[in-house]
Amino acid sequence: MKNLFISQTINKIGQEVELYGWVDSKRDHKKVVFIDLRDRSGVVQTVGNEKLKQLNTEDVVYIKGIVKKRPEKLINPKIKTGSIEIEVKEFKILAKAKPLAIPINSDGYEIDEDNRLKYRYLDLRRQRMKKNLMFRHRFFKAIRDFMDKQGFIEVETPILTKATPEGARDFIVPSRLQPGNFYALPQSPQQYKQLLMVAGIEKYYQIARCFRDEDPRADRAYGEFTQLDVEKSFTTQEEIRSLIEDLLKEVIEKIFPEKKIFKFPFPIITYQEAIKKYQSDRPDIRQKKDPNTLTFCWIIDFPCFEWKETENRWDATHHPFTSPKKEDLPLLEKGEYTKVRADQYDLVLNGFEVGGGSIRITDPTLQTKIFEIMGHTKKQVKEKFGHLLEAFSYGVPPHGGIALGLDRLVQVILNEPSVREVIAFPASSGGRTAVMNAPSLVEEEQLKELGIKIVK
Ligand code: AMO
Repeated sequence: MKNLFISQTINKIGQEVELYGWVDSKRDHKKVVFIDLRDRSGVVQTVGNEKLKQLNTEDVVYIKGIVKKRPEKLINPKIKTGSIEIEVKEFKILAKAKPLAIPINSDGYEIDEDNRLKYRYLDLRRQRMKKNLMFRHRFFKAIRDFMDKQGFIEVETPILTKATPEGARDFIVPSRLQPGNFYALPQSPQQYKQLLMVAGIEKYYQIARCFRDEDPRADRAYGEFTQLDVEKSFTTQEEIRSLIEDLLKEVIEKIFPEKKIFKFPFPIITYQEAIKKYQSDRPDIRQKKDPNTLTFCWIIDFPCFEWKETENRWDATHHPFTSPKKEDLPLLEKGEYTKVRADQYDLVLNGFEVGGGSIRITDPTLQTKIFEIMGHTKKQVKEKFGHLLEAFSYGVPPHGGIALGLDRLVQVILNEPSVREVIAFPASSGGRTAVMNAPSLVEEEQLKELGIKIVK
């Protein structure tokens, strides 16, 4: 049984300890053999007699030994346990390892990414990746603590659901019980969180998985990603922005104390200004590109609609549940759609879009009108969104919210070149899942059950 991490051995000088881990390296000095033992927390030098020669790199071992202080001149300042070593009394090989398929003693950037993903369980053994996962864990935990303190409750929402438009392609899942019908995986919990407001939950959050079939990029993993999804009743744009500012300040100070938030509260830039001054709606407003500076800004006053040339119709810039700004409602009535601004806010960090949200439409008539402007017929609106419109007829509180892209946020804070560096098992850029190499063919029998025929 393991009850001591290697990093804790520095506090055990003179004591006997039992350690479990992997052989990080072996140095054979004939009569004396050094084994660097590694576990999740780090590495420690162990020293013993010739018997240790049978150990090989990456074997899993148990070692019992005495913690000894190293003489001053043998201290290794590069590792946490550099001032001690373990004098081996007893050891056992728990599992042998064959030579690894990929090297793990570097930061790994130089290795072909598809190969790293094929052997992700080895890739994650490298120190940098472990550190990233650890930061991600602590960051998420601090977020949960903050949201809880503010009175938000975490509610899970379904993964097998109906399409919710966020502007990407849906993943669909065939139904066995109703052949010919399909679930969609949620592009976000948008409609469920709004239904939770109708339900009277008032302050909701969820660290939620979202599914979007979009082409991958450096800041976009294929298929799925994780959001901090937030919704609040009886709120304003200012309140949501300030909640997120306080959240980020607190968790970044706690988890990444070496990082400095450049301006607080975050500067607010209108969409028009951003385009004019930076030619981008996610401008990098840093004056100096210091790796430890985090420069957030809000972009507001987006146009409510954009014209989709390919589909010959209007589309919502954010999503169709976003409320137009109150003062622009007369423009909507007049059909001047390009001029209508949305009650929407995007959060940008060092030039990356790390969040987006809005105050929502709660008037069923206005919501129907927005769907119609986007080209849905009355019948389609009823079919696709009738549930939401009906829910709004039973007493809906005014509400608004936001979602932060957590993978991207951690990526930017850690200065990683790709979002895949902060996800344990991301899909490859070709859309294949790490290690398991999905998608794959399924049995003929399964297809039959689902009433599906593959067209070659
Ligand atoms: P939106 O679609 O803007 O809003 O998503 C919110 C944030 O999620 C991140 N994000 C992604 N991160 C990694 N990979 C992706 N493929 C990806 N797509 C989006 C971005 C983005 O800012 N339901 C609304 C939120 C709301 O209105 O409350 C929504 O999902 O950082």
